[in-house]
Amino acid sequence: MEIQAILQYRNQFYELDVRGYDDFAETVKAIYIEEEEHLGELGKRIKELGGEPTADPFQSAERGQDISTIFAFDTDLESNTMDSYNQFAMICREARDTISARLLEEINTDEQAHFIKYRVVRDFIAQYGDSYLSNKAR
Ligand SMILES: [Fe+2]
Ligand SMILES: [Fe+2]
Repeated sequence: MEIQAILQYRNQFYELDVRGYDDFAETVKAIYIEEEEHLGELGKRIKELGGEPTADPFQSAERGQDISTIFAFDTDLESNTMDSYNQFAMICREARDTISARLLEEINTDEQAHFIKYRVVRDFIAQYGDSYLSNKAR
C-alpha cells in the first residue's frame, strides 16, 4: 500500500507540476516523502520478523487523473489505508506483537494527517470549483 501511494502521488506530482499547480504539487510531494519513510519502517520491521518486504505495489498507479479526481482519489486511498492499518494493528496485538502494533498506529497518525489534507482540498474544489483552482494556478 505504501508503494502504491508513492507511485500514485509521484505521478500526480508530475501532473500538478506541469499544469502549474505548484502548491498542490508540493503538498503531494511532502506526503509521498512521508510514505517513503513508512515504506522503510515497515520493510525494516518485516525483515526483523524474518519476512521479505515486497517490491510490488498493492495496485498499479492511475495515470493522467484530472485535478478534481486526484484529491477525491487520494482521500479514499488514505481512508482505506487507515482502515487496513487499524486492522493490522489489532492482529498484531492479538499475536502479542506490540512493537508492530505501535508502529502501525504511529504510521496511522501520519495517514490521518494525509487524509485530512486531501479532504480539505477535495472539499474546496467541490465547493468553489474553478474560482478556487484559478487562484491556485501559478
Ligand atoms: Fe503511509
Ligand atoms: Fe498516507
